Amino acid sequence: MAERGDGISKLIEKSQQAKEFSYCPYSKFRVGAALLAHDGTIFTGCNVENACYNLGICAERNAISTAVSHGYKNFKAIAIASDMEEHVISPCGGCRQVMSEFGSDWDAYLTKPDGSFVKMTVMELLPTSFTPEDLKKKTLQKSN
Ligand code: THU
Repeated sequence: MAERGDGISKLIEKSQQAKEFSYCPYSKFRVGAALLAHDGTIFTGCNVENACYNLGICAERNAISTAVSHGYKNFKAIAIASDMEEHVISPCGGCRQVMSEFGSDWDAYLTKPDGSFVKMTVMELLPTSFTPEDLKKKTLQKSN
């Protein structure tokens, strides 16, 4: 847990507001995310589930996709909110990978409904991840 600065308070509030739009008739587990871009713009997302269960999308990925769809790829922080009273929400492995696509040196605020949080960098969330840089590395000659 940590003290929060003003900007982070606002980002956490936005993630809580985004959670209100969660579409989660199957899990009943609401999640919201608020993503802070380098110029101060905030993009939000919520989890959106589907009757075909595996097509559900997490809040974090929806926020990131919205930002990228608006031309943003440089991020400072993401705040994630759920309804778990006694635990911070921990992003799934898939979302950690999607975050790491956009760099490892930015912050994730894993929050509780009371606004308290654990702050972790994307690097801490997913060390030694597979990144776009890996695709540029020397490979063996392919036979197919
Ligand atoms: N979920 C998120 O949106 N973000 C997370 O960090 C963890 C899980 C969603 C996926 C699904 O709609 C519901 O929470 C239960 O897994």
